[in-house]
Amino acid sequence: MTIIQFPENIKWGAATASYQIEGAANKDGRGLSIWDTFAKTPGKVLNGDHGDVACDSYHRYEEDIALMKELGIDMYRLSIAWPRIFPKGKGSVNQLGLDYYHRVIDCLIANGIEPMVTLYHWDLPQALQDEGGWDNRETIDAFVHYAETVFQAFNGKVKHWITLNEPWCSSFLSNFIGAHAPGNQDLQLAVNVAHHLMIAHGKTVKKFRELDIDGEIGYAPNVEWNEAYSNKEEDIKACKRASAWFIEWFFDPVFKGEYPSILVDWFKKKGVQVNIEDGDMEAIHSPIDFLGINYYTGSVSRYKEGEGLFDHERVDKGYDQTDIGWNIYPEGFYHVLVYIKEKYGDIPIYITENGSCYNDEPVDGKVNDTGRIDYLKQHLISLHRSIESGVNIKGYLTWSLLDNFEWAEGYSKRFGIVHVNYRTLERTKKESFYWYQKFLETNWIKL
Ligand code: BGC
Repeated sequence: MTIIQFPENIKWGAATASYQIEGAANKDGRGLSIWDTFAKTPGKVLNGDHGDVACDSYHRYEEDIALMKELGIDMYRLSIAWPRIFPKGKGSVNQLGLDYYHRVIDCLIANGIEPMVTLYHWDLPQALQDEGGWDNRETIDAFVHYAETVFQAFNGKVKHWITLNEPWCSSFLSNFIGAHAPGNQDLQLAVNVAHHLMIAHGKTVKKFRELDIDGEIGYAPNVEWNEAYSNKEEDIKACKRASAWFIEWFFDPVFKGEYPSILVDWFKKKGVQVNIEDGDMEAIHSPIDFLGINYYTGSVSRYKEGEGLFDHERVDKGYDQTDIGWNIYPEGFYHVLVYIKEKYGDIPIYITENGSCYNDEPVDGKVNDTGRIDYLKQHLISLHRSIESGVNIKGYLTWSLLDNFEWAEGYSKRFGIVHVNYRTLERTKKESFYWYQKFLETNWIKL
């Protein structure tokens, strides 16, 4: 028998995000976000689904926290909905919005669960989008002001802060590919948005230091692992471009104060540039306390002239895939963590998301999601390999506690370790919940 034993000091947890679980879209003065608008635009989200009710966690947070307690996690990652705090993005604070998060955070603490709070998990107030959204530099100031308000409100209660969730998604996926809100398809716009998001991140970190807020701050980019199909230079370069889009583009500015030339040059050939103003890079380069990493998938890929943005194609070698069609690529998790350590140094890392989509439904009250258990196990082993290789892992938070609103896929894709019946809102613990619970008791995996 082989035993994979984790160190004692790792924090284990689960993650969610406001628009995906809260519902209560019109409650207590919440303003509209770009996701309300997008989801209600015909054709944007599968089946016309939207987050008006979602998992109704706004009203059922106590039940959800009881589940977390039963699960035995140390930490829960939630996000704050900006339009609950500033319904118009700026202006006067909506106290009822702050009160809601006080209730949630207090309840977590009372149950011995540490809150990790994301400030921006994509629900930009629609009123700011109406003024240009992240393309408009004024949104940066509005964000920093929102962050300051929230820091002051929860100072002392929340010790782990994340500025941005997956800036690649809120820039390129949302403004170049167009699959997420606000749904634009313009590369220059996407590059502007990415840059402004990162300035907002950096200025928020500076504000956090200035205000001397208790605790630590970081951000949570999503990474994929792209492995070159062969050792031909053109394959290696195509792969580097593809992976730099996720990694270097969002890491180099933070850790080195510059954008990666491999993509700057590539974008230039397409007539697109980063519009950098004085002070931008210095702000983005502000030191962070920890890095959040969201990892789901990876692939083997190679050069293909004219394919996609980077003359690059994925080669489907027949990997097993989850129910959302993403390759199951646990080795990539290990490789990417080691790569990040080698390239960016010994930064403390929280895995802020890792999980899988399986659509198993309850049968006689039991959800037998063996696919998710395998995924979890394999990724935890990769995590362990990275720890053994010296990567400074502080915590691991699985995505997700609950099945929830999966963005453009609506409610058709389930990532939870707890099943949610969207008609009755009943929660059913899946077999993966029990597997994770057992794992948390021992901190080891038996093979
Ligand atoms: C996001 C989550 C999302 C998950 C699965 C990440 O991209 O941060 O909000 O539900 O992955 O797609």
